[in-house]
Amino acid sequence: MEVIVLPGPDDVARVAADVVADVVRRRPGAVLGLATGSSPVGVYAELARRVTAGELDLTGVSGFALDEYVGLPAGHPESYAAVIARDVTGPLGLDPARVHVPDGRAADLEAAAEAYEQALADAGGVDVQLLGIGANGHIGFNEPTSSFGSRTRLKTLAARTRADNARFFTSPDEVPLHCLTQGLGTILGARRLLLVAQGSAKAEAVAAAVEGPLTSMVPASALQLHPRATVVVDEEAAARLTLLDHYRQVYAAKPDWQRP
Ligand code: GLP
Repeated sequence: MEVIVLPGPDDVARVAADVVADVVRRRPGAVLGLATGSSPVGVYAELARRVTAGELDLTGVSGFALDEYVGLPAGHPESYAAVIARDVTGPLGLDPARVHVPDGRAADLEAAAEAYEQALADAGGVDVQLLGIGANGHIGFNEPTSSFGSRTRLKTLAARTRADNARFFTSPDEVPLHCLTQGLGTILGARRLLLVAQGSAKAEAVAAAVEGPLTSMVPASALQLHPRATVVVDEEAAARLTLLDHYRQVYAAKPDWQRP
């Protein structure tokens, strides 16, 4: 995979936004895979800035969220449907009718998961999937021991994930126990993967995902199976990578025609 190490979070946001913008320039009707959490916030802000400045037009794209909590009341501000609408659909000027989030309030969650897979297939699959990484190595809500072949399904959140995400809720008990998440197999079906990570809290997970063995104990290690995965990290998140100098050299020597 391509590992790009940059000085700080702003650089990560800029370079990741370059990749997304390049995909959309080549294909104005591109399908974007949308991540939630704090990691991609800067990327969305940078894309929104370019849209406002008239440098980028995202009106033709579709979006598919990675995951959704199960059991939050309709309109809960921390449901991923609300987060995506607030941080992504509005600021980026996407057509709300073309932005999809798994239905975590469905009476039949299995049917909702199947319908989501079908909607993804009907849209022709994801052109570029933006990803964050959990401190325990999860992507989407694929917690450790998730199958590399998994599809969208119900998952139980790991205790660490619930604790990490408690900051978004008024109390830790309010964090749902369950979610619907695209599977690792679903994510690997995207034509391009773009994982962003910032800060020292992610350093261990990034090193395990990029340089550790392929193991379901580190779900993000699934990126090693993908022919076109790019990992964009700041210095702090890169701190545990052993081939740091190599990644820097490769990026510095990257031919212009390969850059977005
Ligand atoms: C969340 C999301 C993931 C995200 C990860 C990291 O719970 N389900 O998609 O990548 O955990 O979150 P953050 O970016 O806030 O650190």
